[in-house]
Parts: sequence; structure tokens; C-alpha cells
Amino acid sequence: MTTKTLPYYRVIGKEVEVFEYCYNNQLPLLLKGPTGCGKSRFVEFMAEKFNKKLITVSCHEETSAIDLIGRFVIKGAETVWLDGPLTRSVRENSWIYIDEIAEARPDVLVAIHSLTDYRRTLYIDKTNEELIASPEFMLIASYNPGYQGLGKEIKPSTKQRFVSFQFNYPNQDIEIEIILNEVRHKIKEDDAKRLVLFANKVRNLQELGLVETVSTRLLVHTAKLIGDGLPPRLACEVGILNPLTDDPEILKNLKDIVALFF
Ligand SMILES: Nc1ncnc2c1ncn2[C@@H]1O[C@H](COP(=O)(O)OP(=O)(O)O)[C@@H](O)[C@H]1O
Ligand SMILES: [Mg+2]
Repeated sequence: MTTKTLPYYRVIGKEVEVFEYCYNNQLPLLLKGPTGCGKSRFVEFMAEKFNKKLITVSCHEETSAIDLIGRFVIKGAETVWLDGPLTRSVRENSWIYIDEIAEARPDVLVAIHSLTDYRRTLYIDKTNEELIASPEFMLIASYNPGYQGLGKEIKPSTKQRFVSFQFNYPNQDIEIEIILNEVRHKIKEDDAKRLVLFANKVRNLQELGLVETVSTRLLVHTAKLIGDGLPPRLACEVGILNPLTDDPEILKNLKDIVALFF
């Protein structure tokens, strides 16, 4: 027998408990939080922990209900039905993670309605099927409320269908620990600390005008570059600043802040 190793996930608060209560009570869970703060990693971790197959759907503007439920496709002389990831997940009692659900077309939310309430049923009009989800099925979704105002909101009535957990960037010590772990201690603790101090400085400067701020993901990328020998200022520029903005003025301001730490 082989024992699987859990993906590295540093627990931050009560997310594990909340997840378990949702699963045990057949409630769908919505993870809210900015990009790159550990939502996907957490779901992968929970799936491994429960030994469940996880199907992830990453939504974009074109993602529609058909993409999730399935479609008829032509195969030789026949037309055959092809399950989409949501249907597959219900049929095989796995977990489905609908990432960035607010990005998808509205019909995606309509499609999951009956699965997210007491019915726990997926209606497939085209094949005339009604699939009742087993207690082992779980629907998890994520959404980034930071996009508010840019037109990417979830309707309140949809939000109310989920138990919802707020994620955030971890506090200083935990974030340092995450970075060091992710780069297998290839950088000095002091450098990890500088990265986090820099990140928190930028996160607190609303006036910079960034749409998205420095995420744990960007810090990990940058730490990998530093760990491999790229000079820290350059690593910050290509690992954090350029991915965050194209605006020359904001870039200049960010570079000045980097220079305070490296
Ligand atoms: N709590 C955490 N434990 C371990 N790694 C984390 C954690 N939070 C963030 N990370 C790191 O940040 C990266 C981005 O996290 P991810 O889960 O992809 O973010 P999200 O899904 O919220 O956009 C991960 O690949 C990992 O390196
Ligand atoms: Mg994600």
C-alpha cells in the first residue's frame, strides 16, 4: 500500500473545520478571497485528506452551462452524449471545484441551483436525466470579491445558496513560513521576511491604484527566483511588479518601495 503525501497547505484559521462541517452536512461551500491566497491549494489539500477525486473547472467569460453539464458530439456517423465535468462529478461522487465562478456566464449559476439546495439534483434537459447527488458529492466554488465594481459580482440570491468562508493573505509569520516551505528553505529567512514586509506595505497602500495587490503566489514565485540566484530587486520586478501592473507610474512607485526593502 502506498500512502499519499498531502499537498503542503499551512492551515490559517478554521477553514478545515468549516469545510468538514459542510461536507458532513451536504452543504456547498464558497471560498471568497483575493487571487493567490491559497484557496485552490486548500481545496487540493482537503481532497487528498479525504481521499476524494477532485475535478476543477476554471471559469472564464465564455464558460457556459453546457461546458459544465455536457453536450452531444458527432462521432463517426453517430451523435453521442459527452458528460461535462459537473455531470461526471455527480455520477462518480467526486468533488467539484468551480474556480472563479463569478467569471462564468449566468447560466452556469442557474445550472447548479438544484444541486446547491435540498434537492441536490442535476437536471440534464438534453438527455432527460435527473441525477441525485450522493452524500459524497461536494460542490466547492471560489470567487474574488475584489473584482467588485468591474462587473464580476455574484447575485446575492446565489451567494445565499452557499456556506461561505473568507480567505485572506496570511499574517506575517505564517506567510514567511509558507514562502520558506514552498522554496524548501532555499532563501534566507531574512529575505522571506523582507518579501512579506514589502508585500504588506504595498497591500496597505490603497492609493497606489492597483486592481489586485501582491499575493502569496507572487511572493512564492519571487522567492524561487531569489533562491536560484536572481538578484532580489530584479526578482521583485519580474516576479511581482510586472505581473501586477503595466502602468509606468505605478511601476515607478513600486520600484521605490522595493528599494526600501532590498
Ligand atoms: N496556506 C497556504 N499554504 C501553502 N501554500 C500557500 C498557502 N497560501 C498560499 N500558498 C501559496 O500560494 C500559491 C497560490 O495559492 P492558490 O491556492 O493557487 O491561490 P488562489 O487559489 O487563492 O488564487 C500556492 O501555489 C502556494 O505556493
Ligand atoms: Mg485558485
